[in-house]
Amino acid sequence: ATEGRDIPLTKNWSETWCTLSAEFDNVLPEILNMEIRSDDIFVVTFIKCGTTWMQEATWLLMNNLDFERCKQVHVWERSPFLDNHGFNVGAPNAIEFCKTAPSPRVIKTHMPANLLPLEIWKKNVKIIYVARNCKDVIVSAYHFTKNLGSWKGANLEEFAEDFINNEIMYTCFWSHIVDFWKMRNESFLFFTTYEEMKRDLPGVLQKLCGFLQRPQLTAAEMENMLNHLSFENMKGNDQTNITALMREQVPTISNDFQFMRRGIVGSFKDELTPKLQRKIDNWSRNFLAQHDLKEEDIFGKL
Ligand code: A3P
Repeated sequence: ATEGRDIPLTKNWSETWCTLSAEFDNVLPEILNMEIRSDDIFVVTFIKCGTTWMQEATWLLMNNLDFERCKQVHVWERSPFLDNHGFNVGAPNAIEFCKTAPSPRVIKTHMPANLLPLEIWKKNVKIIYVARNCKDVIVSAYHFTKNLGSWKGANLEEFAEDFINNEIMYTCFWSHIVDFWKMRNESFLFFTTYEEMKRDLPGVLQKLCGFLQRPQLTAAEMENMLNHLSFENMKGNDQTNITALMREQVPTISNDFQFMRRGIVGSFKDELTPKLQRKIDNWSRNFLAQHDLKEEDIFGKL
């Protein structure tokens, strides 16, 4: 399955596959062999890195800023989630749903580079990658998976342990990010971070327009975009905040479940003990050193 790519990856496909749930056994070949259209746009992220935020921005840019439709049609119905095998949005089978979606498709996936549909690399389709700092992802993913009922451990410390041992779905986290970081100067890739989106969303949106070959946003259009994409407005919109949908469809979900929780940079500072922060930082440092990288190179000072 790794044949045909000239991009060196940190892991081979079978290593990552092990961390995905058993249900992926059936769908992985379908994902790898999926038919790609040359005008497809992929929004690729590790979980909890700001996927929905970027999906909404990209869909709007590709659909003449149709804010009304964003309030009427669920984000996953406008922008299919390729590896969604639990939720019935649009269709029960995500791959079938992708097949029927109109072009240009804006497809969301958490698949790492080594498990993306193989034709992506042949057709040079556009990929938008959003990374987020490790400690905030751990906090966000902990609340998400614990309250969803898909992670059964006791507390954040245990979750962090599972995370750095690559036992959480889609890990290894760093491997996911580093593969795309290394491709960041390729013309088919738009690489950004949650932190950059928080710091300078207008700048990210204008660069994204360039990447998507869309006209730059006027001042009025920018104002409307920033308003629509604000944390408060996306949280208040049932078509982007999927809390209600998940509550309907996931029997194990807890009352504390919030798809959009805090929406800030640095929630780890309030939620992780200094000792746990040091442990995660050491793990990150060791991994990144193998690639001559520091977390700061990717995210700036946190
Ligand atoms: P928190 O759990 O830290 O609040 P994903 O879409 O990849 O699952 O990412 C979810 C994270 O992005 C959540 O982080 C969520 O609150 C945050 N998020 C979603 N929309 C956002 C927005 N418009 N502005 C800032 N953060 C947003």
